Amino acid sequence: MRIDIITVLPELLESPFGASIVKRAIEKGLVEIHLHALRDYATNKYKQVDDYPYGGGAGMVLMAEPIDRCMEALTAERDYDEIIYLTPDGERLDQGIANELSLSGNLLLLCGHYKGVDQRIRDHWITREISIGDYVLSGGELGAAVLCDAIVRLLPGVLGNETSALTDTFQDNLLAPPIYTRPQEFKGMQVPEVLTSGHQARIDAWREEKALERTRERRPDLLENE
Ligand code: ADE
Repeated sequence: MRIDIITVLPELLESPFGASIVKRAIEKGLVEIHLHALRDYATNKYKQVDDYPYGGGAGMVLMAEPIDRCMEALTAERDYDEIIYLTPDGERLDQGIANELSLSGNLLLLCGHYKGVDQRIRDHWITREISIGDYVLSGGELGAAVLCDAIVRLLPGVLGNETSALTDTFQDNLLAPPIYTRPQEFKGMQVPEVLTSGHQARIDAWREEKALERTRERRPDLLENE
Protein backbone atom coordinates (compact mmCIF):
# COMPACT_ATOMS: atom_id res chain seq x y z
CA MET A 1 0.00 0.00 0.00
CA ARG A 2 1.06 3.57 -0.66
CA ILE A 3 -0.29 6.61 1.18
CA ASP A 4 0.44 10.17 0.00
CA ILE A 5 -0.39 13.02 2.36
CA ILE A 6 -0.66 16.68 1.40
CA THR A 7 -0.10 18.99 4.37
CA VAL A 8 1.08 22.47 5.34
CA LEU A 9 2.83 20.89 8.35
CA PRO A 10 4.75 17.77 7.27
CA GLU A 11 6.87 17.96 10.44
CA LEU A 12 3.74 17.25 12.51
CA LEU A 13 3.43 13.86 10.82
CA GLU A 14 7.04 12.77 10.99
CA SER A 15 6.92 11.48 14.56
CA PRO A 16 3.68 9.43 14.40
CA PHE A 17 5.10 7.58 11.41
CA GLY A 18 8.58 7.32 12.92
CA ALA A 19 7.70 5.01 15.80
CA SER A 20 6.14 1.71 16.69
CA ILE A 21 3.87 -0.28 14.37
CA VAL A 22 3.66 2.19 11.49
CA LYS A 23 7.45 2.59 11.47
CA ARG A 24 7.89 -1.19 11.44
CA ALA A 25 5.40 -1.55 8.59
CA ILE A 26 7.35 1.04 6.58
CA GLU A 27 10.64 -0.71 7.33
CA LYS A 28 9.18 -4.08 6.30
CA GLY A 29 8.10 -2.52 3.00
CA LEU A 30 4.42 -3.18 3.71
CA VAL A 31 3.45 0.48 3.34
CA GLU A 32 5.03 3.61 1.88
CA ILE A 33 3.97 6.95 3.34
CA HIS A 34 4.96 10.08 1.42
CA LEU A 35 4.49 13.57 2.87
CA HIS A 36 4.03 16.47 0.45
CA ALA A 37 4.55 20.01 1.77
CA LEU A 38 1.83 22.21 0.30
CA ARG A 39 4.16 25.20 0.37
CA ASP A 40 6.32 23.52 -2.28
CA TYR A 41 3.37 23.92 -4.66
CA ALA A 42 2.65 27.59 -3.88
CA THR A 43 2.09 29.63 -7.01
CA ASN A 44 3.42 33.01 -5.84
CA LYS A 45 6.85 34.09 -4.68
CA TYR A 46 5.77 34.48 -1.05
CA LYS A 47 4.97 30.76 -0.98
CA GLN A 48 1.46 31.72 0.03
CA VAL A 49 -0.98 28.84 0.49
CA ASP A 50 -3.83 30.53 2.39
CA ASP A 51 -5.97 33.60 1.91
CA TYR A 52 -8.95 35.46 3.38
CA PRO A 53 -12.42 33.99 2.83
CA TYR A 54 -14.70 35.63 0.27
CA GLY A 55 -17.64 37.16 2.09
CA GLY A 56 -15.52 37.93 5.16
CA GLY A 57 -15.39 36.18 8.52
CA ALA A 58 -12.68 34.94 10.84
CA GLY A 59 -9.90 32.60 9.78
CA MET A 60 -8.00 31.78 6.63
CA VAL A 61 -8.74 29.32 3.85
CA LEU A 62 -6.28 27.04 2.04
CA MET A 63 -6.15 28.24 -1.57
CA ALA A 64 -7.27 26.00 -4.41
CA GLU A 65 -4.31 26.47 -6.75
CA PRO A 66 -1.41 25.03 -4.67
CA ILE A 67 -3.54 22.01 -3.71
CA ASP A 68 -4.60 21.55 -7.31
CA ARG A 69 -1.00 21.65 -8.55
CA CYS A 70 0.02 19.05 -6.02
CA MET A 71 -2.99 16.83 -6.82
CA GLU A 72 -2.31 17.12 -10.58
CA ALA A 73 1.32 16.09 -10.06
CA LEU A 74 0.44 13.12 -7.84
CA THR A 75 -2.48 11.79 -9.89
CA ALA A 76 -0.36 11.99 -13.06
CA GLU A 77 1.92 9.40 -11.45
CA ARG A 78 -0.66 6.90 -10.23
CA ASP A 79 -4.35 6.16 -9.70
CA TYR A 80 -5.76 6.49 -6.21
CA ASP A 81 -8.51 4.31 -4.74
CA GLU A 82 -9.70 7.29 -2.73
CA ILE A 83 -8.72 10.94 -2.37
CA ILE A 84 -9.66 11.71 1.22
CA TYR A 85 -10.12 15.08 2.89
CA LEU A 86 -9.80 15.07 6.69
CA THR A 87 -12.47 17.37 8.04
CA PRO A 88 -14.76 17.55 11.08
CA ASP A 89 -17.83 17.55 8.79
CA GLY A 90 -16.86 14.26 7.11
CA GLU A 91 -18.24 10.78 7.83
CA ARG A 92 -17.13 9.62 11.27
CA LEU A 93 -14.20 7.16 11.16
CA ASP A 94 -14.95 3.74 12.57
CA GLN A 95 -13.45 0.25 12.36
CA GLY A 96 -15.57 -0.61 9.32
CA ILE A 97 -14.11 2.30 7.36
CA ALA A 98 -10.58 1.38 8.48
CA ASN A 99 -11.16 -2.23 7.38
CA GLU A 100 -12.46 -1.08 4.00
CA LEU A 101 -9.60 1.38 3.37
CA SER A 102 -6.99 -1.21 4.41
CA LEU A 103 -7.86 -3.07 1.19
CA SER A 104 -6.74 -0.10 -0.95
CA GLY A 105 -3.64 0.07 -3.10
CA ASN A 106 -3.04 3.83 -3.15
CA LEU A 107 -4.61 6.49 -0.94
CA LEU A 108 -4.20 10.25 -1.13
CA LEU A 109 -4.99 12.26 2.00
CA LEU A 110 -5.48 16.02 2.16
CA CYS A 111 -5.13 17.74 5.54
CA GLY A 112 -7.14 20.91 6.01
CA HIS A 113 -5.90 23.85 8.06
CA TYR A 114 -7.28 27.09 9.45
CA LYS A 115 -10.92 27.27 8.31
CA GLY A 116 -10.43 24.50 5.75
CA VAL A 117 -9.86 24.34 2.01
CA ASP A 118 -11.54 26.16 -0.87
CA GLN A 119 -14.79 24.28 -1.56
CA ARG A 120 -13.86 23.84 -5.24
CA ILE A 121 -11.06 21.46 -4.24
CA ARG A 122 -13.58 19.33 -2.40
CA ASP A 123 -15.97 19.43 -5.35
CA HIS A 124 -13.33 18.62 -7.93
CA TRP A 125 -10.88 16.21 -6.32
CA ILE A 126 -12.16 14.68 -3.14
CA THR A 127 -13.84 11.25 -3.28
CA ARG A 128 -14.35 10.82 0.47
CA GLU A 129 -14.41 13.07 3.55
CA ILE A 130 -13.54 11.66 6.93
CA SER A 131 -13.76 13.03 10.47
CA ILE A 132 -12.03 11.36 13.42
CA GLY A 133 -14.64 12.64 15.88
CA ASP A 134 -17.04 15.41 16.78
CA TYR A 135 -14.47 18.00 17.84
CA VAL A 136 -12.42 20.50 15.89
CA LEU A 137 -8.65 20.04 15.60
CA SER A 138 -6.36 22.79 14.41
CA GLY A 139 -5.64 20.81 11.27
CA GLY A 140 -6.22 17.49 9.54
CA GLU A 141 -2.72 16.16 10.33
CA LEU A 142 -3.61 14.41 13.58
CA GLY A 143 -6.69 13.01 11.83
CA ALA A 144 -4.46 11.70 9.02
CA ALA A 145 -2.12 10.13 11.60
CA VAL A 146 -5.06 8.42 13.33
CA LEU A 147 -6.49 7.19 10.02
CA CYS A 148 -3.12 5.86 8.82
CA ASP A 149 -2.47 4.06 12.09
CA ALA A 150 -5.92 2.44 12.03
CA ILE A 151 -5.37 1.28 8.44
CA VAL A 152 -1.72 0.24 8.56
CA ARG A 153 -2.07 -2.08 11.55
CA LEU A 154 -4.61 -4.08 9.53
CA LEU A 155 -2.26 -4.75 6.61
CA PRO A 156 -1.23 -8.41 6.36
CA GLY A 157 2.16 -8.95 7.99
CA VAL A 158 2.16 -5.74 10.06
CA LEU A 159 1.11 -7.17 13.43
CA GLY A 160 3.30 -10.02 14.67
CA ASN A 161 0.38 -12.37 15.05
CA GLU A 162 -1.70 -12.51 11.85
CA THR A 163 -4.95 -12.88 13.76
CA SER A 164 -4.25 -10.13 16.30
CA ALA A 165 -6.35 -7.42 14.63
CA LEU A 166 -9.29 -9.80 14.41
CA THR A 167 -9.65 -9.73 18.20
CA ASP A 168 -9.54 -5.92 18.48
CA THR A 169 -12.27 -3.95 20.09
CA PHE A 170 -14.89 -2.99 17.45
CA GLN A 171 -14.21 -5.95 15.17
CA ASP A 172 -17.59 -7.76 15.14
CA ASN A 173 -19.11 -4.61 16.70
CA LEU A 174 -17.99 -5.72 20.16
CA LEU A 175 -15.62 -4.17 22.67
CA ALA A 176 -12.67 -6.38 23.59
CA PRO A 177 -12.90 -8.45 26.82
CA PRO A 178 -10.59 -7.75 29.81
CA ILE A 179 -7.03 -9.04 29.37
CA TYR A 180 -4.32 -9.97 31.87
CA THR A 181 -0.63 -10.82 31.91
CA ARG A 182 1.83 -11.94 34.58
CA PRO A 183 1.94 -11.92 37.57
CA GLN A 184 -1.05 -14.10 38.41
CA GLU A 185 -1.63 -12.13 41.62
CA PHE A 186 -1.31 -8.33 41.73
CA LYS A 187 -2.16 -6.25 44.84
CA GLY A 188 -4.34 -9.12 46.02
CA MET A 189 -6.24 -9.35 42.71
CA GLN A 190 -6.21 -12.68 40.88
CA VAL A 191 -6.31 -13.37 37.18
CA PRO A 192 -9.68 -15.05 36.46
CA GLU A 193 -9.19 -18.79 36.97
CA VAL A 194 -10.56 -19.72 33.55
CA LEU A 195 -7.69 -17.94 31.76
CA THR A 196 -5.10 -20.19 33.41
CA SER A 197 -7.19 -23.36 33.00
CA GLY A 198 -5.64 -24.26 29.65
CA HIS A 199 -9.15 -25.11 28.42
CA GLN A 200 -9.41 -23.14 25.17
CA ALA A 201 -13.14 -23.64 24.56
CA ARG A 202 -13.94 -22.35 28.07
CA ILE A 203 -11.55 -19.42 27.60
CA ASP A 204 -13.19 -18.47 24.28
CA ALA A 205 -16.67 -18.71 25.82
CA TRP A 206 -15.59 -16.55 28.80
CA ARG A 207 -14.07 -13.93 26.48
CA GLU A 208 -17.19 -13.80 24.35
CA GLU A 209 -19.40 -13.42 27.39
CA LYS A 210 -17.21 -10.64 28.85
CA ALA A 211 -17.01 -8.83 25.50
CA LEU A 212 -20.79 -8.85 25.26
CA GLU A 213 -21.19 -7.77 28.91
CA ARG A 214 -18.72 -4.88 28.45
CA THR A 215 -20.37 -3.79 25.20
CA ARG A 216 -23.84 -3.87 26.79
CA GLU A 217 -22.58 -1.76 29.70
CA ARG A 218 -20.44 0.77 27.84
CA ARG A 219 -21.60 0.90 24.23
CA PRO A 220 -25.13 -0.51 23.88
CA ASP A 221 -25.38 1.44 20.61
CA LEU A 222 -22.98 -1.07 19.00
CA LEU A 223 -25.50 -3.87 19.61
CA GLU A 224 -28.51 -2.01 18.31
CA ASN A 225 -28.10 -3.04 14.66
CA GLU A 226 -27.27 -6.66 15.41
N1 ADE B 1 -9.66 18.59 11.00
C1 ADE B 1 -10.11 19.36 12.01
N2 ADE B 1 -10.89 18.67 12.85
C2 ADE B 1 -10.92 17.39 12.36
C3 ADE B 1 -11.56 16.20 12.77
N3 ADE B 1 -12.33 16.15 13.86
N4 ADE B 1 -11.39 15.09 12.03
C4 ADE B 1 -10.62 15.13 10.91
N5 ADE B 1 -10.00 16.21 10.47
C5 ADE B 1 -10.14 17.34 11.19
